[in-house]
Amino acid sequence: MANPFTLGVASGEPLPDGVILWTRLTGVPGRAVEVGWQLAADERFTKIVQQGTARALPAWAHSVHVRVAALRPGTEYFYRFRAGTDLSAVGRTKTAADPASSDLVRFAVANCQRYEHGRYTALRHLADERPDVVFHVGDYIYESPQAADPVRRLDRPGAAVTLADYRARYARYKSDPDLRAAHAAAPWVATWDDHEVLDNYRGRGDGSAAFLRRRAAAYQAYYEHLPLRVRPEAGALQMYRRRTYGRVADFMLLDVRQYRDAATMLGAAQEQWLVSRLTSTPVRWKVLVQPLFFARRFVPGPAPNLRLDSWDGHPAERARILAAAGGLVVLSGDVHNHWACDLKADFLDPSSPPAGAEFVCSAVSSRPPETDAEAVLAANPHIRHFDGHRGYLSGTAGATGFRVSHKGLEASGVRTVAEFITDGLRIIRVDV
Ligand SMILES: [Fe+2]
Repeated sequence: MANPFTLGVASGEPLPDGVILWTRLTGVPGRAVEVGWQLAADERFTKIVQQGTARALPAWAHSVHVRVAALRPGTEYFYRFRAGTDLSAVGRTKTAADPASSDLVRFAVANCQRYEHGRYTALRHLADERPDVVFHVGDYIYESPQAADPVRRLDRPGAAVTLADYRARYARYKSDPDLRAAHAAAPWVATWDDHEVLDNYRGRGDGSAAFLRRRAAAYQAYYEHLPLRVRPEAGALQMYRRRTYGRVADFMLLDVRQYRDAATMLGAAQEQWLVSRLTSTPVRWKVLVQPLFFARRFVPGPAPNLRLDSWDGHPAERARILAAAGGLVVLSGDVHNHWACDLKADFLDPSSPPAGAEFVCSAVSSRPPETDAEAVLAANPHIRHFDGHRGYLSGTAGATGFRVSHKGLEASGVRTVAEFITDGLRIIRVDV
């Protein structure tokens, strides 16, 4: 039998004392398969810290989610899996900082990796940085039929609808070595946007049994292919959560799809959870990690001038979040270009007090839309910077500073196209 670890390895959901280790077997018989795992202090596995076995079940596509606990905070580990005599690749992971720590956190942000639109070179450069944690803010897959003029082809070009379709789509994406390298380089904390299920869907969609079946299949496949701490139940998956790094950074991951309807982006329970943490956290940096453009963005020209699928569709909810935070950093994506924005209590009032800073991450591979960036910058004084390269964000949060770089891909490699420093109320420095 061929080596079953073709989809690679991953880790995620770092806590000060634990992480999730993930893999998924391919080409194995349709019954439970025993998988051994090892976690070591060194890359050559001479100092084993913990080991055990897990069962890969066909009902979960032979995925494995090992919950490792009792680890040391802020510590690097290495892990691998074994099935029979076959070994997986080796992954590197790192636990979150001790709750009392003031250590710097090094993070990266990526999103929007449509397979047919391009290669995952951005993820290879991200992997080379070996950050403490990687945030993925959505469009991990695209459910859509294969795009016109593909740079590379899907094996199954139709839209994903069934569980088998979604599983096959993830397997195709994970056939990319740069995506596997990015997972093997650091623990990931991911949230989803729309394309993990269906373009621009909200909540329960049209409410039909067919849509709810499709959503449940998509949520299950998402779980099966990512190192998540919780599994879906009855067609729902708990995604909003926080990952805290010492006294330095409180990263709050939002779910902007599952509970959404015309009246709300987050739903009452998620908003209450968020506002409660924003008003009580003792941590220096309050960081929203979520898919959608958060600042107001007026696009001159023919209507509609505001994009209602983003936070401009829910301005009152946005204002409540900003008011509760009293200083916020937002890491977002979705629009396939880099942007950097000041956040305002009232975006239409030039004298409105500063309320935070947003860094919008460009796409790994998805094609950018037609954007008249000059006109958008002119019409929105709080939007400070635009860059059209594909890439990712690289940043650090420390006891006294928060810094974010726009990383842009060029033929010769990757480059820092702009660097920003924020005090949590506004962007205080831009280096281009
Ligand atoms: Fe996208």
